[in-house]
Amino acid sequence: MSHDLSTTAGKIADFRERREHSFVPAGEAAIERQHARGKSTARERVDMLLDEDSFVELDALRTHRSTAFGMDKKKMPGDGVVAGYGTIDGRLVAIYSQDFTVLGGSLSEANGEKIVKVQKFALKNGCPVIGINDGGGARIQEGVASLAMFADIFNMNVRSSGVVPQISLIMGPCAGGAAYSPALTDYIIMVDQTSHMFITGPDVIKTVTGEDVDMETLGGARSHNETTGTATYLADDEEDALDFLRELLEFLPANNLTEPPLLDHAQEFDLTDDDLALDELIPDSANQPYNMREVIETVVDDGHFLEMQALYAPNVMIGYARVEGHTVGIVANQPMEFAGTLDIAASEKAARFVRHCDAFNIPILTLVDVPGFLPGTDQEFNGIIRRGAKLLYAYAEATVPLVTLITRKAYGGAYIVMGSKKLGADINLAWPTAQIGVMGAQGAVEILYRRELKAVADEGGDVDAKRAELVEQYEQQLLNPYQATQLGYLDSVIAPSETRENIIRALRGLREKRASTPAKKHGNIPL
Ligand code: HXC
Repeated sequence: MSHDLSTTAGKIADFRERREHSFVPAGEAAIERQHARGKSTARERVDMLLDEDSFVELDALRTHRSTAFGMDKKKMPGDGVVAGYGTIDGRLVAIYSQDFTVLGGSLSEANGEKIVKVQKFALKNGCPVIGINDGGGARIQEGVASLAMFADIFNMNVRSSGVVPQISLIMGPCAGGAAYSPALTDYIIMVDQTSHMFITGPDVIKTVTGEDVDMETLGGARSHNETTGTATYLADDEEDALDFLRELLEFLPANNLTEPPLLDHAQEFDLTDDDLALDELIPDSANQPYNMREVIETVVDDGHFLEMQALYAPNVMIGYARVEGHTVGIVANQPMEFAGTLDIAASEKAARFVRHCDAFNIPILTLVDVPGFLPGTDQEFNGIIRRGAKLLYAYAEATVPLVTLITRKAYGGAYIVMGSKKLGADINLAWPTAQIGVMGAQGAVEILYRRELKAVADEGGDVDAKRAELVEQYEQQLLNPYQATQLGYLDSVIAPSETRENIIRALRGLREKRASTPAKKHGNIPL
Protein backbone atom coordinates (compact mmCIF):
# COMPACT_ATOMS: atom_id res chain seq x y z
CA MET A 1 0.00 0.00 0.00
CA SER A 2 1.36 3.43 -0.82
CA HIS A 3 0.99 6.24 1.66
CA ASP A 4 1.19 9.97 1.23
CA LEU A 5 4.62 10.48 2.73
CA SER A 6 4.26 14.21 2.60
CA THR A 7 1.89 13.99 5.55
CA THR A 8 2.54 12.98 9.13
CA ALA A 9 -0.32 10.50 9.04
CA GLY A 10 1.12 8.98 5.89
CA LYS A 11 4.59 8.68 7.45
CA ILE A 12 3.20 6.98 10.52
CA ALA A 13 1.08 4.61 8.44
CA ASP A 14 4.15 3.79 6.32
CA PHE A 15 6.16 3.12 9.46
CA ARG A 16 3.45 0.86 10.87
CA GLU A 17 3.40 -1.11 7.67
CA ARG A 18 7.18 -1.50 7.71
CA ARG A 19 7.04 -2.65 11.29
CA GLU A 20 4.27 -5.15 10.54
CA HIS A 21 6.38 -6.52 7.70
CA SER A 22 9.35 -6.95 10.06
CA PHE A 23 7.28 -9.35 12.17
CA VAL A 24 6.79 -11.68 9.20
CA PRO A 25 9.65 -10.73 6.88
CA ALA A 26 9.64 -13.83 4.70
CA GLY A 27 5.86 -14.27 4.62
CA GLU A 28 3.40 -16.70 6.13
CA ALA A 29 4.41 -19.58 3.83
CA ALA A 30 7.97 -19.48 5.16
CA ILE A 31 6.63 -19.63 8.70
CA GLU A 32 4.54 -22.66 7.78
CA ARG A 33 7.61 -24.36 6.33
CA GLN A 34 9.48 -23.66 9.55
CA HIS A 35 6.62 -25.13 11.59
CA ALA A 36 6.48 -28.15 9.29
CA ARG A 37 10.11 -28.85 10.20
CA GLY A 38 9.02 -29.08 13.82
CA LYS A 39 10.57 -25.72 14.65
CA SER A 40 9.19 -22.46 15.99
CA THR A 41 10.14 -19.18 14.38
CA ALA A 42 12.86 -16.92 15.73
CA ARG A 43 10.30 -14.49 17.07
CA GLU A 44 8.09 -17.17 18.61
CA ARG A 45 11.12 -18.49 20.48
CA VAL A 46 11.93 -15.07 21.88
CA ASP A 47 8.31 -14.58 22.92
CA MET A 48 8.15 -18.02 24.55
CA LEU A 49 11.34 -17.45 26.48
CA LEU A 50 10.94 -13.91 27.75
CA ASP A 51 8.44 -12.53 30.23
CA GLU A 52 5.29 -11.42 28.47
CA ASP A 53 5.59 -8.04 26.77
CA SER A 54 9.14 -7.56 27.99
CA PHE A 55 10.97 -7.81 24.66
CA VAL A 56 12.54 -4.62 23.38
CA GLU A 57 13.65 -5.15 19.83
CA LEU A 58 16.73 -3.52 18.32
CA ASP A 59 17.40 -3.10 14.62
CA ALA A 60 14.04 -4.50 13.55
CA LEU A 61 14.20 -2.66 10.23
CA ARG A 62 17.83 -3.27 9.49
CA THR A 63 18.71 -4.76 6.10
CA HIS A 64 21.86 -6.07 4.47
CA ARG A 65 23.97 -4.01 2.11
CA SER A 66 24.78 -6.52 -0.62
CA THR A 67 23.79 -6.18 -4.23
CA ALA A 68 25.57 -9.03 -6.03
CA PHE A 69 23.78 -12.30 -6.84
CA GLY A 70 20.45 -10.48 -6.99
CA MET A 71 20.67 -9.72 -3.29
CA ASP A 72 19.32 -6.20 -3.77
CA LYS A 73 15.95 -7.88 -4.35
CA LYS A 74 16.27 -10.04 -1.26
CA LYS A 75 16.30 -7.39 1.44
CA MET A 76 14.06 -8.23 4.35
CA PRO A 77 13.59 -6.18 7.53
CA GLY A 78 15.69 -7.54 10.36
CA ASP A 79 17.92 -9.40 7.90
CA GLY A 80 17.53 -12.82 9.47
CA VAL A 81 18.03 -12.19 13.15
CA VAL A 82 15.65 -11.00 15.86
CA ALA A 83 17.69 -9.10 18.42
CA GLY A 84 17.17 -7.09 21.59
CA TYR A 85 16.66 -7.46 25.29
CA GLY A 86 13.94 -8.30 27.77
CA THR A 87 13.43 -10.08 31.05
CA ILE A 88 13.16 -13.65 32.30
CA ASP A 89 11.53 -13.92 35.73
CA GLY A 90 11.97 -10.16 35.92
CA ARG A 91 15.75 -10.31 35.32
CA LEU A 92 17.36 -8.55 32.38
CA VAL A 93 18.76 -10.66 29.51
CA ALA A 94 20.08 -9.75 26.08
CA ILE A 95 19.02 -12.05 23.28
CA TYR A 96 19.39 -12.75 19.60
CA SER A 97 17.54 -15.36 17.62
CA GLN A 98 18.48 -16.38 14.09
CA ASP A 99 15.56 -16.43 11.66
CA PHE A 100 15.87 -19.44 9.37
CA THR A 101 13.01 -18.15 7.21
CA VAL A 102 15.23 -15.30 6.01
CA LEU A 103 17.99 -16.62 3.77
CA GLY A 104 18.37 -19.67 5.98
CA GLY A 105 19.28 -17.55 9.01
CA SER A 106 22.68 -17.05 7.39
CA LEU A 107 25.00 -14.51 8.93
CA SER A 108 25.47 -11.31 6.96
CA GLU A 109 27.65 -8.36 7.78
CA ALA A 110 24.53 -6.44 8.85
CA ASN A 111 22.91 -9.10 10.99
CA GLY A 112 26.29 -9.96 12.48
CA GLU A 113 26.52 -6.35 13.59
CA LYS A 114 23.12 -6.79 15.24
CA ILE A 115 24.43 -9.77 17.17
CA VAL A 116 27.50 -7.84 18.26
CA LYS A 117 25.26 -4.99 19.39
CA VAL A 118 23.38 -7.41 21.62
CA GLN A 119 26.62 -8.84 22.97
CA LYS A 120 27.88 -5.34 23.76
CA PHE A 121 24.60 -4.48 25.43
CA ALA A 122 24.98 -7.52 27.69
CA LEU A 123 28.57 -6.75 28.54
CA LYS A 124 27.92 -3.09 29.30
CA ASN A 125 24.81 -3.70 31.32
CA GLY A 126 25.99 -6.86 33.05
CA CYS A 127 23.29 -9.25 31.97
CA PRO A 128 23.34 -12.78 30.51
CA VAL A 129 23.37 -13.06 26.74
CA ILE A 130 21.33 -15.75 25.04
CA GLY A 131 21.94 -16.78 21.43
CA ILE A 132 19.36 -18.88 19.60
CA ASN A 133 21.09 -20.54 16.66
CA ASP A 134 19.16 -21.67 13.61
CA GLY A 135 21.10 -20.75 10.51
CA GLY A 136 23.27 -21.84 7.63
CA GLY A 137 26.42 -20.02 8.79
CA ALA A 138 28.25 -17.36 6.84
CA ARG A 139 26.04 -15.85 4.12
CA ILE A 140 27.66 -17.23 1.02
CA GLN A 141 26.76 -14.28 -1.22
CA GLU A 142 28.65 -11.86 1.04
CA GLY A 143 31.93 -13.73 1.05
CA VAL A 144 34.60 -12.45 3.39
CA ALA A 145 32.41 -9.62 4.70
CA SER A 146 30.26 -12.24 6.36
CA LEU A 147 33.16 -14.41 7.48
CA ALA A 148 34.82 -11.43 9.11
CA MET A 149 31.71 -10.74 11.17
CA PHE A 150 32.23 -14.05 12.89
CA ALA A 151 35.56 -12.76 14.17
CA ASP A 152 33.75 -9.84 15.81
CA ILE A 153 31.23 -12.21 17.38
CA PHE A 154 33.96 -14.57 18.63
CA ASN A 155 35.85 -11.61 20.06
CA MET A 156 32.81 -10.52 21.99
CA ASN A 157 32.26 -14.12 23.19
CA VAL A 158 35.79 -14.17 24.56
CA ARG A 159 35.59 -10.70 26.12
CA SER A 160 32.31 -11.62 27.77
CA SER A 161 33.57 -14.98 29.06
CA GLY A 162 33.63 -14.89 32.83
CA VAL A 163 31.92 -11.49 32.92
CA VAL A 164 28.35 -12.33 31.93
CA PRO A 165 26.82 -15.78 31.50
CA GLN A 166 26.58 -16.71 27.82
CA ILE A 167 24.11 -19.40 26.87
CA SER A 168 23.47 -20.90 23.45
CA LEU A 169 20.33 -22.61 22.30
CA ILE A 170 20.79 -24.68 19.16
CA MET A 171 17.43 -25.00 17.45
CA GLY A 172 18.37 -25.81 13.88
CA PRO A 173 21.59 -26.01 11.90
CA CYS A 174 24.74 -24.41 13.30
CA ALA A 175 27.40 -25.32 10.79
CA GLY A 176 31.03 -24.66 10.02
CA GLY A 177 32.97 -22.03 11.88
CA ALA A 178 29.63 -20.67 13.07
CA ALA A 179 29.61 -23.49 15.62
CA TYR A 180 32.57 -21.86 17.34
CA SER A 181 30.46 -19.05 18.76
CA PRO A 182 28.30 -21.41 20.83
CA ALA A 183 31.45 -23.36 21.63
CA LEU A 184 32.88 -20.25 23.28
CA THR A 185 29.79 -19.78 25.44
CA ASP A 186 29.19 -21.30 28.86
CA TYR A 187 26.29 -23.60 28.12
CA ILE A 188 24.85 -25.17 24.97
CA ILE A 189 21.32 -26.49 24.97
CA MET A 190 20.35 -28.66 21.99
CA VAL A 191 16.96 -29.92 20.84
CA ASP A 192 16.62 -33.59 19.95
CA GLN A 193 16.30 -34.27 16.20
CA THR A 194 16.04 -30.65 15.04
CA SER A 195 19.42 -29.21 16.01
CA HIS A 196 22.75 -30.02 14.41
CA MET A 197 26.26 -28.72 14.92
CA PHE A 198 29.32 -29.64 12.93
CA ILE A 199 32.43 -28.09 11.49
CA THR A 200 32.18 -29.96 8.20
CA GLY A 201 28.93 -31.56 7.09
CA PRO A 202 28.22 -35.10 5.82
CA ASP A 203 28.85 -34.18 2.16
CA VAL A 204 32.27 -32.65 2.79
CA ILE A 205 33.25 -35.55 5.00
CA LYS A 206 32.22 -38.00 2.27
CA THR A 207 34.29 -36.13 -0.30
CA VAL A 208 37.39 -35.73 1.83
CA THR A 209 37.56 -38.91 3.87
CA GLY A 210 35.09 -41.22 2.13
CA GLU A 211 33.20 -41.69 5.39
CA ASP A 212 29.44 -42.09 5.27
CA VAL A 213 27.71 -40.36 8.14
CA ASP A 214 24.26 -38.90 8.46
CA MET A 215 23.57 -35.48 9.91
CA GLU A 216 21.99 -36.80 13.10
CA THR A 217 24.89 -39.12 13.93
CA LEU A 218 27.44 -36.49 13.03
CA GLY A 219 26.09 -33.49 14.84
CA GLY A 220 22.71 -34.24 16.38
CA ALA A 221 21.77 -33.30 19.90
CA ARG A 222 22.34 -36.81 21.20
CA SER A 223 25.85 -37.02 19.73
CA HIS A 224 26.85 -33.72 21.30
CA ASN A 225 25.35 -34.68 24.65
CA GLU A 226 26.64 -38.23 24.86
CA THR A 227 29.75 -38.41 22.74
CA THR A 228 31.47 -35.07 22.24
CA GLY A 229 30.57 -33.37 25.51
CA THR A 230 29.89 -30.16 23.60
CA ALA A 231 26.29 -29.81 24.75
CA THR A 232 25.01 -29.23 28.25
CA TYR A 233 21.49 -30.53 27.89
CA LEU A 234 19.48 -32.73 25.53
CA ALA A 235 16.03 -31.17 25.28
CA ASP A 236 13.07 -33.27 24.12
CA ASP A 237 11.66 -30.30 22.26
CA GLU A 238 11.97 -26.52 22.08
CA GLU A 239 9.74 -25.96 25.10
CA ASP A 240 11.90 -28.28 27.19
CA ALA A 241 15.01 -26.40 26.03
CA LEU A 242 13.55 -23.05 27.05
CA ASP A 243 12.41 -24.43 30.43
CA PHE A 244 15.92 -25.71 31.11
CA LEU A 245 17.42 -22.37 30.19
CA ARG A 246 15.04 -20.47 32.47
CA GLU A 247 15.91 -22.76 35.34
CA LEU A 248 19.62 -22.54 34.69
CA LEU A 249 19.43 -18.75 34.78
CA GLU A 250 17.80 -18.87 38.20
CA PHE A 251 21.03 -20.32 39.57
CA LEU A 252 23.35 -17.81 37.92
CA PRO A 253 24.23 -14.23 38.77
CA ALA A 254 23.63 -11.64 36.08
CA ASN A 255 27.36 -10.95 35.94
CA ASN A 256 30.61 -11.61 37.79
CA LEU A 257 30.09 -8.71 40.19
CA THR A 258 26.66 -9.66 41.50
CA GLU A 259 25.14 -12.54 43.42
CA PRO A 260 22.75 -15.16 42.06
CA PRO A 261 19.13 -14.72 43.17
CA LEU A 262 18.71 -15.67 46.82
CA LEU A 263 15.61 -17.72 47.52
CA ASP A 264 13.85 -17.88 50.86
CA HIS A 265 14.63 -21.10 52.61
CA ALA A 266 14.36 -21.85 56.31
CA GLN A 267 16.75 -24.56 57.54
CA GLU A 268 15.96 -26.99 60.29
CA PHE A 269 18.86 -28.92 61.72
CA ASP A 270 16.65 -31.62 63.23
CA LEU A 271 17.61 -34.91 61.66
CA THR A 272 15.23 -35.96 58.90
CA ASP A 273 14.60 -39.49 57.66
CA ASP A 274 16.71 -38.64 54.61
CA ASP A 275 19.58 -37.51 56.86
CA LEU A 276 19.39 -40.75 58.82
CA ALA A 277 19.25 -42.82 55.64
CA LEU A 278 22.76 -41.59 54.80
CA ASP A 279 24.09 -43.62 57.76
CA GLU A 280 23.10 -46.70 55.79
CA LEU A 281 24.14 -45.57 52.34
CA ILE A 282 27.68 -46.87 52.15
CA PRO A 283 27.83 -50.64 51.56
CA ASP A 284 30.15 -52.68 53.80
CA SER A 285 32.07 -53.80 50.73
CA ALA A 286 34.18 -51.04 49.19
CA ASN A 287 33.59 -52.56 45.75
CA GLN A 288 29.84 -52.08 45.85
CA PRO A 289 28.40 -48.98 44.26
CA TYR A 290 25.81 -46.65 45.72
CA ASN A 291 24.14 -43.59 44.32
CA MET A 292 25.97 -40.34 45.15
CA ARG A 293 22.89 -38.47 43.96
CA GLU A 294 21.24 -39.47 47.26
CA VAL A 295 23.87 -37.51 49.16
CA ILE A 296 23.33 -34.48 46.95
CA GLU A 297 19.57 -34.62 47.25
CA THR A 298 19.70 -34.97 51.02
CA VAL A 299 21.98 -31.99 51.48
CA VAL A 300 20.49 -29.41 49.12
CA ASP A 301 17.30 -27.38 49.42
CA ASP A 302 14.20 -29.36 48.46
CA GLY A 303 16.42 -32.16 47.14
CA HIS A 304 16.64 -30.27 43.88
CA PHE A 305 19.75 -30.70 41.74
CA LEU A 306 19.92 -29.30 38.21
CA GLU A 307 22.47 -31.50 36.51
CA MET A 308 24.59 -30.25 33.60
CA GLN A 309 25.97 -32.63 30.95
CA ALA A 310 24.14 -35.56 32.53
CA LEU A 311 24.72 -37.80 29.52
CA TYR A 312 28.47 -37.19 29.16
CA ALA A 313 31.11 -38.70 31.45
CA PRO A 314 28.47 -39.70 34.02
CA ASN A 315 31.24 -40.91 36.34
CA VAL A 316 31.36 -37.33 37.54
CA MET A 317 28.21 -35.30 38.12
CA ILE A 318 28.18 -31.52 37.87
CA GLY A 319 25.33 -29.11 38.36
CA TYR A 320 23.63 -26.51 40.49
CA ALA A 321 21.57 -26.66 43.63
CA ARG A 322 20.83 -24.37 46.56
CA VAL A 323 21.79 -24.50 50.17
CA GLU A 324 19.82 -22.13 52.40
CA GLY A 325 18.63 -20.42 49.24
CA HIS A 326 22.16 -19.73 47.97
CA THR A 327 23.40 -21.24 44.71
CA VAL A 328 26.12 -23.87 45.01
CA GLY A 329 27.92 -25.71 42.25
CA ILE A 330 28.27 -29.41 42.87
CA VAL A 331 31.00 -31.70 41.61
CA ALA A 332 30.52 -35.32 42.64
CA ASN A 333 32.06 -38.63 41.72
CA GLN A 334 29.36 -41.16 40.86
CA PRO A 335 30.34 -44.65 42.10
CA MET A 336 27.57 -46.14 39.95
CA GLU A 337 29.42 -45.24 36.74
CA PHE A 338 32.90 -46.68 36.15
CA ALA A 339 33.24 -46.78 39.94
CA GLY A 340 33.48 -42.98 39.88
CA THR A 341 36.97 -42.95 38.33
CA LEU A 342 38.32 -39.80 36.77
CA ASP A 343 39.00 -40.20 33.08
CA ILE A 344 39.82 -37.54 30.52
CA ALA A 345 36.20 -36.74 29.78
CA ALA A 346 35.22 -36.46 33.44
CA SER A 347 38.26 -34.31 34.25
CA GLU A 348 37.56 -31.85 31.47
CA LYS A 349 33.86 -31.74 32.22
CA ALA A 350 34.43 -30.99 35.89
CA ALA A 351 37.30 -28.58 35.21
CA ARG A 352 35.24 -26.31 33.00
CA PHE A 353 32.43 -26.33 35.53
CA VAL A 354 34.75 -25.44 38.42
CA ARG A 355 36.13 -22.53 36.39
CA HIS A 356 32.64 -21.34 35.54
CA CYS A 357 31.61 -21.39 39.20
CA ASP A 358 34.80 -19.61 40.17
CA ALA A 359 34.33 -16.92 37.53
CA PHE A 360 30.81 -16.22 38.79
CA ASN A 361 31.52 -16.48 42.53
CA ILE A 362 29.51 -19.62 43.08
CA PRO A 363 30.72 -21.78 46.00
CA ILE A 364 31.61 -25.34 45.10
CA LEU A 365 30.64 -28.43 47.04
CA THR A 366 32.74 -31.45 46.08
CA LEU A 367 31.62 -34.97 46.98
CA VAL A 368 34.42 -37.48 46.68
CA ASP A 369 34.41 -41.21 46.13
CA VAL A 370 37.18 -41.72 43.62
CA PRO A 371 39.34 -44.81 43.18
CA GLY A 372 41.79 -42.89 40.99
CA PHE A 373 42.41 -41.85 37.42
CA LEU A 374 41.28 -44.43 34.87
CA PRO A 375 44.20 -46.69 33.88
CA GLY A 376 44.84 -47.77 30.28
CA THR A 377 46.77 -46.95 27.13
CA ASP A 378 43.70 -45.33 25.63
CA GLN A 379 43.69 -42.75 28.42
CA GLU A 380 47.47 -42.32 28.48
CA PHE A 381 47.83 -41.96 24.71
CA ASN A 382 44.98 -39.48 24.61
CA GLY A 383 46.75 -37.29 27.09
CA ILE A 384 45.31 -37.93 30.52
CA ILE A 385 48.37 -36.25 32.04
CA ARG A 386 47.75 -33.01 30.20
CA ARG A 387 43.98 -33.20 30.20
CA GLY A 388 43.55 -34.51 33.75
CA ALA A 389 45.73 -31.60 34.87
CA LYS A 390 42.95 -29.22 33.90
CA LEU A 391 40.87 -30.25 36.87
CA LEU A 392 43.82 -29.85 39.17
CA TYR A 393 44.46 -26.41 37.73
CA ALA A 394 40.83 -25.40 38.03
CA TYR A 395 40.55 -26.31 41.70
CA ALA A 396 43.92 -24.83 42.57
CA GLU A 397 43.13 -21.45 41.04
CA ALA A 398 39.57 -21.27 42.40
CA THR A 399 39.05 -18.60 45.05
CA VAL A 400 35.37 -19.22 45.74
CA PRO A 401 34.35 -21.09 48.90
CA LEU A 402 35.31 -24.74 48.48
CA VAL A 403 33.76 -27.40 50.68
CA THR A 404 34.79 -31.02 50.17
CA LEU A 405 33.27 -34.16 51.64
CA ILE A 406 34.91 -37.57 51.25
CA THR A 407 32.32 -40.30 51.52
CA ARG A 408 34.48 -43.30 50.70
CA LYS A 409 37.46 -43.75 48.40
CA ALA A 410 39.94 -40.94 47.90
CA TYR A 411 42.97 -42.52 46.36
CA GLY A 412 46.19 -41.13 44.99
CA GLY A 413 46.32 -38.19 42.64
CA ALA A 414 42.56 -38.21 42.27
CA TYR A 415 42.24 -37.50 46.01
CA ILE A 416 44.49 -34.49 45.68
CA VAL A 417 42.69 -33.23 42.57
CA MET A 418 39.16 -33.47 43.92
CA GLY A 419 39.23 -30.39 46.11
CA SER A 420 41.73 -31.60 48.70
CA LYS A 421 42.79 -29.39 51.59
CA LYS A 422 46.30 -28.72 50.39
CA LEU A 423 45.04 -27.83 46.92
CA GLY A 424 43.08 -25.00 48.47
CA ALA A 425 39.72 -26.23 49.76
CA ASP A 426 38.41 -24.31 52.77
CA ILE A 427 36.48 -26.93 54.69
CA ASN A 428 37.24 -30.63 54.28
CA LEU A 429 34.94 -33.20 55.81
CA ALA A 430 34.90 -36.98 55.74
CA TRP A 431 32.66 -39.79 56.78
CA PRO A 432 34.04 -42.59 58.98
CA THR A 433 33.82 -44.74 55.84
CA ALA A 434 36.42 -42.57 54.08
CA GLN A 435 39.46 -44.37 52.73
CA ILE A 436 42.20 -41.89 52.03
CA GLY A 437 45.40 -43.37 50.73
CA VAL A 438 47.89 -43.65 47.94
CA MET A 439 45.91 -46.52 46.45
CA GLY A 440 43.34 -49.20 47.24
CA ALA A 441 44.24 -52.11 49.48
CA GLN A 442 44.51 -54.78 46.77
CA GLY A 443 46.94 -52.78 44.66
CA ALA A 444 48.98 -51.67 47.66
CA VAL A 445 49.37 -55.18 49.03
CA GLU A 446 50.53 -56.51 45.65
CA ILE A 447 53.26 -53.89 45.53
CA LEU A 448 54.31 -53.82 49.19
CA TYR A 449 54.20 -57.57 49.83
CA ARG A 450 55.11 -59.07 46.46
CA ARG A 451 58.06 -60.98 47.96
CA GLU A 452 56.11 -62.21 50.99
CA LEU A 453 53.23 -63.43 48.84
CA LYS A 454 55.63 -65.18 46.48
CA ALA A 455 57.31 -66.87 49.43
CA VAL A 456 53.96 -68.16 50.68
CA ALA A 457 53.18 -69.45 47.20
CA ASP A 458 56.60 -71.14 46.91
CA GLU A 459 56.05 -72.89 50.23
CA GLY A 460 52.69 -74.13 49.00
CA GLY A 461 50.86 -71.94 51.52
CA ASP A 462 47.43 -70.30 51.19
CA VAL A 463 48.25 -67.15 49.21
CA ASP A 464 44.67 -65.90 49.16
CA ALA A 465 44.39 -66.10 52.94
CA LYS A 466 47.72 -64.27 53.36
CA ARG A 467 46.65 -61.61 50.89
CA ALA A 468 43.32 -61.14 52.67
CA GLU A 469 45.13 -60.74 55.98
CA LEU A 470 47.50 -58.13 54.54
CA VAL A 471 44.63 -56.30 52.86
CA GLU A 472 42.75 -56.11 56.13
CA GLN A 473 45.87 -54.87 57.92
CA TYR A 474 46.41 -52.15 55.26
CA GLU A 475 42.77 -51.12 55.36
CA GLN A 476 42.79 -50.78 59.11
CA GLN A 477 46.06 -48.90 59.32
CA LEU A 478 45.83 -46.57 56.35
CA LEU A 479 42.45 -46.61 54.63
CA ASN A 480 40.51 -44.46 57.01
CA PRO A 481 39.99 -40.76 57.60
CA TYR A 482 42.12 -40.58 60.73
CA GLN A 483 45.62 -40.20 59.31
CA ALA A 484 44.37 -37.25 57.25
CA THR A 485 42.67 -35.83 60.35
CA GLN A 486 45.84 -36.07 62.40
CA LEU A 487 47.70 -34.15 59.71
CA GLY A 488 45.02 -31.45 59.48
CA TYR A 489 44.00 -32.35 55.92
CA LEU A 490 40.49 -32.92 57.18
CA ASP A 491 38.76 -30.43 59.39
CA SER A 492 36.25 -32.86 60.74
CA VAL A 493 35.05 -36.44 60.57
CA ILE A 494 31.27 -36.50 60.71
CA ALA A 495 28.54 -39.12 60.75
CA PRO A 496 26.81 -39.31 57.37
CA SER A 497 23.52 -38.26 58.96
CA GLU A 498 25.20 -35.02 60.12
CA THR A 499 26.20 -34.05 56.60
CA ARG A 500 23.47 -31.54 55.80
CA GLU A 501 24.06 -29.55 58.97
CA ASN A 502 27.83 -29.57 58.52
CA ILE A 503 27.66 -28.41 54.94
CA ILE A 504 25.22 -25.66 55.78
CA ARG A 505 27.47 -24.46 58.59
CA ALA A 506 30.55 -24.69 56.37
CA LEU A 507 28.96 -22.59 53.66
CA ARG A 508 27.71 -20.08 56.22
CA GLY A 509 31.24 -19.72 57.54
CA LEU A 510 32.64 -19.08 54.09
CA ARG A 511 30.02 -16.67 52.82
CA GLU A 512 32.25 -13.62 53.07
CA LYS A 513 35.42 -15.42 51.98
CA ARG A 514 38.03 -13.17 50.42
CA ALA A 515 40.92 -14.64 48.49
CA SER A 516 42.89 -13.57 45.46
CA THR A 517 45.52 -14.92 43.13
CA PRO A 518 48.76 -13.16 42.16
CA ALA A 519 48.33 -10.41 39.57
CA LYS A 520 49.12 -11.71 36.10
CA LYS A 521 47.87 -11.37 32.57
CA HIS A 522 46.44 -14.87 32.69
CA GLY A 523 47.57 -18.34 33.55
CA ASN A 524 48.37 -21.04 31.07
CA ILE A 525 46.00 -23.88 31.86
CA PRO A 526 47.02 -27.05 29.97
CA LEU A 527 44.57 -27.11 27.06
C1 HXC B 1 23.18 -18.03 2.12
C2 HXC B 1 21.90 -19.82 2.72
C3 HXC B 1 22.95 -20.34 3.49
C4 HXC B 1 24.16 -19.61 3.54
C5 HXC B 1 21.29 -21.65 3.65
N1 HXC B 1 20.90 -20.67 2.85
N2 HXC B 1 22.55 -21.48 4.04
N3 HXC B 1 22.02 -18.67 2.05
N4 HXC B 1 24.22 -18.46 2.84
N5 HXC B 1 25.20 -20.01 4.26
C6 HXC B 1 19.60 -20.50 2.22
C7 HXC B 1 19.33 -21.52 1.14
O1 HXC B 1 19.86 -21.08 -0.08
C8 HXC B 1 17.82 -21.54 1.12
O2 HXC B 1 17.36 -20.40 0.43
C9 HXC B 1 17.46 -21.35 2.56
O3 HXC B 1 18.60 -20.77 3.19
C10 HXC B 1 17.14 -22.65 3.27
O4 HXC B 1 18.20 -23.56 3.03
P1 HXC B 1 17.94 -25.06 2.55
O5 HXC B 1 19.23 -25.59 2.07
O6 HXC B 1 16.78 -25.11 1.63
O7 HXC B 1 17.48 -25.73 3.93
P2 HXC B 1 17.91 -27.15 4.51
O8 HXC B 1 17.72 -28.21 3.48
O9 HXC B 1 17.17 -27.29 5.77
O10 HXC B 1 19.44 -27.06 4.83
C11 HXC B 1 19.91 -26.13 5.76
C12 HXC B 1 21.44 -26.12 5.75
C13 HXC B 1 21.95 -25.96 4.30
C14 HXC B 1 21.95 -27.44 6.35
C15 HXC B 1 21.89 -24.99 6.66
O11 HXC B 1 21.27 -24.85 3.71
C16 HXC B 1 23.40 -25.73 4.20
O12 HXC B 1 24.19 -26.70 4.26
N6 HXC B 1 23.79 -24.47 4.04
C17 HXC B 1 25.19 -24.12 3.91
C18 HXC B 1 25.89 -24.32 5.21
C19 HXC B 1 27.32 -23.87 5.13
O13 HXC B 1 28.19 -24.60 4.64
N7 HXC B 1 27.54 -22.61 5.54
C20 HXC B 1 28.84 -22.02 5.56
C21 HXC B 1 29.50 -22.56 6.80
S1 HXC B 1 31.04 -21.90 7.04
P3 HXC B 1 16.03 -20.41 -0.45
O14 HXC B 1 16.04 -19.06 -1.06
O15 HXC B 1 16.18 -21.54 -1.42
O16 HXC B 1 14.92 -20.62 0.53
C22 HXC B 1 30.82 -20.71 8.11
C23 HXC B 1 32.08 -20.00 8.35
C24 HXC B 1 32.08 -19.30 9.64
O17 HXC B 1 29.81 -20.43 8.59
C25 HXC B 1 33.40 -18.66 9.79
C26 HXC B 1 33.86 -18.66 11.18
C27 HXC B 1 35.34 -18.58 11.30
